[in-house]
Amino acid sequence: MTAGSARETWVRDQFPALRSGEARMDGPAGSQVPVPVIRAMVRYLEADNANSGGLFSASVSTDSLIGRARDAMAGFLGCRPEEVGFGQNASTVNLLLSRAAVRSLRPGDEIVVTRLDHDSNIDPWLEGAKDVGAKVVMVDARDDTTLDMDGLAAAIGERTRVVAFPWACNATGTMTDVAQISAMAHAAGALSWVDATHFAPHGPIDVTAVEADVAICSPYKFFGPHLGVFYAKQGLLEGWLPLHVRASAPQSPAQLLEPGTLPGESLAGLVAAVEYIQSLGWPWIREQEARLGTAFLEGLPPAWELYGLGTMNGRTATFAIGARSKAPSEWAAALAADGIAVTAGHFRATRMMERLGLPAGAVRVGFLHYNTLEEVERVLAALGGLGAG
Ligand SMILES: Cc1ncc(COP(=O)(O)O)c(C=O)c1O
Repeated sequence: MTAGSARETWVRDQFPALRSGEARMDGPAGSQVPVPVIRAMVRYLEADNANSGGLFSASVSTDSLIGRARDAMAGFLGCRPEEVGFGQNASTVNLLLSRAAVRSLRPGDEIVVTRLDHDSNIDPWLEGAKDVGAKVVMVDARDDTTLDMDGLAAAIGERTRVVAFPWACNATGTMTDVAQISAMAHAAGALSWVDATHFAPHGPIDVTAVEADVAICSPYKFFGPHLGVFYAKQGLLEGWLPLHVRASAPQSPAQLLEPGTLPGESLAGLVAAVEYIQSLGWPWIREQEARLGTAFLEGLPPAWELYGLGTMNGRTATFAIGARSKAPSEWAAALAADGIAVTAGHFRATRMMERLGLPAGAVRVGFLHYNTLEEVERVLAALGGLGAG
């Protein structure tokens, strides 16, 4: 038994989906949900299901819940509740926000994006730039999948208005230096626009400390329900013309980007997910992931190629791997037959996959704090058997 085993057992007990015996390493595609989140969602639907703005108890509770969800996310992201907005998922939230942002751009303005980004932080900029005559500049990744910081410095110029980048790449787990990139953006008078979707379950986010202007994430990646969340720095949205359908009673500019009724049951789950993470604390979560990730890296059989950083420094416990004798989807199917859930393909990190020369993508093995060393050993043994074949 390891020193952390009592807590590991407690954690495993929180997640009904982990009881099936299947080893879930598909966390980067979506995490599993602990009991308090499930209960909070059911409780909302049983007792408080109502639209907001009414004077009866379920509606009053719903309004109070929306406020608590903003408070919870403000704590999670390190910002003020008025700076938090909700939407369907990270892609939709990014689309809405970027459409609002590009309306203030002029022909010849520039938007910087990176090869480490998910397509949802690139394609809306390409479309938006087309509409207003702006230009999108893509910063490359180095061979080790880290961001080319010299290339970034060269890409940022006096016409740069937005620097869009990820906190961490969802295919390779490679992290960026968010504070440094924000400082570089601000020195040029540009916005620091961070996609924190992949990083969110792996470590603490403090948008104020790193001086981000916009940050986006998806609670279903950090043990909550399907939902999108954004932070937009106070003062920013007032200057934009949001593409909005009249919000019923906006009390903050962020709410102008929340057209329609919010999903109460998802907000209830979100509050419980943030409380769940708080109950464990980031230090333990990070230690656990470092332990799992290190064991994986040290044990990866030689027949498998790792696309990305070879130690846990500067990365999350998300690993893109491949053995070129078969397509990634075939390996993933073989692992699934062995009771191991991994994902395969490009993960909508298509620019990184192009950079790595992987048209069919990779196999992605992703660990979250609820995985165990036994599961790491299980996948390593399975990869050993398969890779040899
Ligand atoms: C880094 C990153 N950005 C954006 C997204 C899109 O998230 P959503 O499915 O919430 O739109 C993902 C999803 O995998 C992601 O990993």
